[in-house]
Amino acid sequence: MKNVAVIGCGYWGNHIVRNFNSSENWDLKYICDIDAEHLNKIAKSYPNAKAVIDAGIIFADESIDAVAIATPVNTHFDLAKRSLESGKHTWVEKPLTSDAASSQVLVEAAKRKGVILHVDHTFIYTPAVRKIKSIIESGELGEIYYFDSVRINLGLFQHDVNVLWDLAPHDLSILQYLLDRKPVAVSAHGISPYKYNNNDIESIAYLNIRFEQGMMANLHVNWLSPVKIRKIIIGGNRKMLVFDDMEPIEKIKIFDSGIEMKSREDVYESLIQYRIGDMMSPAIKNYEALKEECNHFYDCIVKDVDTDTDGKSGLYVVAILEAADKSMKSGGIPIEIDF
Ligand SMILES: NC(=O)c1ccc[n+]([C@@H]2O[C@H](COP(=O)([O-])OP(=O)(O)OC[C@H]3O[C@@H](n4cnc5c(N)ncnc54)[C@H](O)[C@@H]3O)[C@@H](O)[C@H]2O)c1
Repeated sequence: MKNVAVIGCGYWGNHIVRNFNSSENWDLKYICDIDAEHLNKIAKSYPNAKAVIDAGIIFADESIDAVAIATPVNTHFDLAKRSLESGKHTWVEKPLTSDAASSQVLVEAAKRKGVILHVDHTFIYTPAVRKIKSIIESGELGEIYYFDSVRINLGLFQHDVNVLWDLAPHDLSILQYLLDRKPVAVSAHGISPYKYNNNDIESIAYLNIRFEQGMMANLHVNWLSPVKIRKIIIGGNRKMLVFDDMEPIEKIKIFDSGIEMKSREDVYESLIQYRIGDMMSPAIKNYEALKEECNHFYDCIVKDVDTDTDGKSGLYVVAILEAADKSMKSGGIPIEIDF
């Protein structure tokens, strides 16, 4: 068993606390939140964990092996840096930090201290995304041409980040995990029809990414949609896949559809032939992603290997978000990226 502490016990931190507490691999030693009243309420359910307001107590405790940070994004860097510097394996919520330079600092700090930096890109640990990964790796879809995602609903307006930083990390982490291509340019458009906190915080955004290998990705995120849609389409030259996370059972559908180009020499032109074949929906397991992720974090610490969503994958997501923000503020011009 390893000793763990969770900093930030709000909406998401609460789920993390529950999963570490129920895991056979982890001993939940501390819960921490600067909101004393809220902390006292949570502490009632976890009498074996010490409840502290000051995260410094956790960093100073040498018996703590790992720390999970589930505080607002603008606090991630400072807390994660202190955690890594004190030699703790560190789990940080998505997005890793608010800019690529600070994410890079964390990646280097983890390397220097010989500890694991893990980013909670939860979707990577869902049975559906694991299944899609195995389908792509089997070659069933063929060469991938595009990745299209829609993540929209009447969403909770965040105070510190726009809709891109709130919702797009999910799709960007899925994109990176499934396809791992080198992005070359990012462009984005967004609007903020409602001004609040005297800020222009975009609540609707479209993000486009071009990749070295010719593939293209499009992401649509929106807090102002009357319907909730969570859909990803991945188009290959053999088959195409639709992942609909709102579907209770048939979340993944593989369509044997596509086109074939036939050249007719006599008329010197290409003919397009459509192929509309069967649709297949594979069976997927059913388990809580966070539970799987807690166990994966433990296994990687024991084996001294990086997690599937390590600091570099966190940096990838943040670098694209940063470029997208820059593009959005400059009328959608493509921003080149190189990492
Ligand atoms: N992986 C996911 O699917 C997922 C889902 C939701 C949120 N998140 C991420 O989780 C993080 C928290 O989001 P949330 O929705 O739980 O927010 P929240 O506001 O509900 O909770 C944040 C908590 O952190 C506490 N806090 C703030 N600063 C602190 C500090 N310095 N020390 C200790 N406690 C501190 C606050 O008092 C609050 O209780 C964000 O980074 C968010 O992006 C991830």
